[in-house]
Amino acid sequence: MASLPPSLSSILFLTLALILMSASPAFSSSRKSLDDHHDLPIKTGFKLTLTSVDSGENFTTIERLHRQMKRGRHRLEKLSERILTSEHPIRSMVYPGQGEFLMNLSIGTPPQPYYAIMDTGSDLVWTQCQPCIQCFPQPTPLYDPMKSSSFSEVPCSSNLCKALPISNCSNANGCEYLYIYGDGDSTSGVLGTETFTFEEVSVPNIGFGCGEINTGDKGNGAGLVGLGRGALSLVSQLDEPKFSYCLTYFNGTKPSTLLMGSQASSVNCPSSSREMKNTPLIKNPVIPTFYYLSLKGITVGSTRLPINETTFALHENGTGGVFIDSGTSITHLVESAFSLVKEEFISQVNLPTVNATDSPWLDGLDLCFQLPSGSVSVDIPSLVFHFQDADLDLPKENYMITDSSVGVMCLAMGKSSDGSSVFGNIQQQNILVVYDLSKETVSFMPTECDQC
Ligand SMILES: *[C@@H]1O[C@H](CO)[C@@H](O)[C@H](O)[C@H]1NC(C)=O
Ligand SMILES: *[C@@H]1O[C@H](CO)[C@@H](O)[C@H](O)[C@H]1NC(C)=O
Ligand SMILES: *[C@@H]1O[C@H](CO)[C@@H](O)[C@H](O)[C@H]1NC(C)=O
Ligand SMILES: *[C@@H]1O[C@H](CO)[C@@H](O)[C@H](O)[C@H]1NC(C)=O
Ligand SMILES: *[C@@H]1O[C@H](CO)[C@@H](O)[C@H](O)[C@H]1NC(C)=O
Ligand SMILES: *[C@@H]1O[C@H](CO)[C@@H](O)[C@H](O)[C@H]1NC(C)=O
Ligand SMILES: *[C@@H]1O[C@H](CO)[C@@H](O)[C@H](O)[C@H]1NC(C)=O
Repeated sequence: MASLPPSLSSILFLTLALILMSASPAFSSSRKSLDDHHDLPIKTGFKLTLTSVDSGENFTTIERLHRQMKRGRHRLEKLSERILTSEHPIRSMVYPGQGEFLMNLSIGTPPQPYYAIMDTGSDLVWTQCQPCIQCFPQPTPLYDPMKSSSFSEVPCSSNLCKALPISNCSNANGCEYLYIYGDGDSTSGVLGTETFTFEEVSVPNIGFGCGEINTGDKGNGAGLVGLGRGALSLVSQLDEPKFSYCLTYFNGTKPSTLLMGSQASSVNCPSSSREMKNTPLIKNPVIPTFYYLSLKGITVGSTRLPINETTFALHENGTGGVFIDSGTSITHLVESAFSLVKEEFISQVNLPTVNATDSPWLDGLDLCFQLPSGSVSVDIPSLVFHFQDADLDLPKENYMITDSSVGVMCLAMGKSSDGSSVFGNIQQQNILVVYDLSKETVSFMPTECDQC
């Protein structure tokens, strides 16, 4: 849908809105008057288990990486499209979509369980809703607001309704929304508030999209939980707007962890160092949803690479910069910086390189080495990302992926072609990453995430 001309998009919304208008009387019996108490912050903290969207599938290490990369690449392309078309009012409202992790939660009273995709690249929390006009298949029953005593529609005066990128609000039909993702998926319906239950903890009055027309395929997911910086996201609706995640090794079997609100920095998993490194968050005026960081440089082994500081700068027109993301697999750096990283690894690793174009699984990986036969140990140079005030020394398995079944070792990084860079989830494994929206910082602490 990102490539639709704006006129088509508005026709689509008009059509959706008309369909919704005719469908919305079904809501009236469950509609309650709601004062603005849902705009009050929600006091809570909770912990959730995150499973990879590929979990349970039998893939080799490289296959698994390849699948993640394909999804991630898509995300980056759509993001740059969004920035470059920011003068188009509709197209600039497209969110990258696709996440790598699923969470198990429940909605309503009594609770109706479902799986949702966690997404740090968008804001809206939503699930497919009855009466459904167009829904994709999901493994759990569709949420029905009529069967919940805690559903309310959001009034037009609500800050949440005003925060929607595309909406149409009236007393008769409620706050209708359309939310578009870059992979062509979208959701539209009515904005409501509900009680959500996250494992043991119930949180009332969370603003969410009750999706009546939803396109795409979310695997086991029945919606998304947006964790971006915008007002509609789950984290922004908490009284302590912060969260953290601890991602396990992508090829392992242990699930990852998400900690929300007051729980975000209360880690009780083993850590090699209790030192939390903090780096400031920067805002991109064009896409305020994303978490941009200030990256000052990169060191490979003992060599600080000669990267001009301006290489990673975020420009006022929204181009450039470096953002941290949970839904992108490998880190992509602007080409001039990536080629320096690549050259440095080639000169420090004493192994022949493999021509990646020779194997479909290596497609998209710019640098692979041929592993020596036998159990010879290989020296892998260290890799440090110098974020402002936070030098992040990465564990080796966060950038060198070894697949002995194929006999290769690949650098899990690549180049980006659009001038902006992204710090991906492979690089964030076994690190507690804390996003604090009120302090405007991201913090890192090395952690054994499979012990959380
Ligand atoms: C908004 O909803 C009203 C009815 O409440 C409808 O007449 C109007 O066409 C809708 N606008 C758009 C852009 O869909
Ligand atoms: C996974 O795949 C490998 C190789 O294709 C096979 O030997 C193994 O039995 C499979 N395991 C499961 C659980 O399917
Ligand atoms: C990756 O996962 C596969 C399948 O579970 C397993 O056979 C392989 O040994 C794992 N590789 C590593 C490096 O953990
Ligand atoms: C998801 O949550 C529901 C309700 O709490 C529970 O019954 C179900 O077993 C959970 N599923 C998983 C895979 O944890
Ligand atoms: C860094 O790049 C900027 C803009 O391209 C240029 O003006 C400046 O001279 C460069 N600095 C160094 C040390 O190369
Ligand atoms: C955005 O700003 C940067 C730096 O000022 C400039 O180099 C670039 O050409 C601009 N890009 C667009 C698409 O306007
Ligand atoms: C890799 O393969 C491409 C296409 O087959 C070829 O053009 C290139 O020379 C090869 N590079 C090496 C280092 O063998």
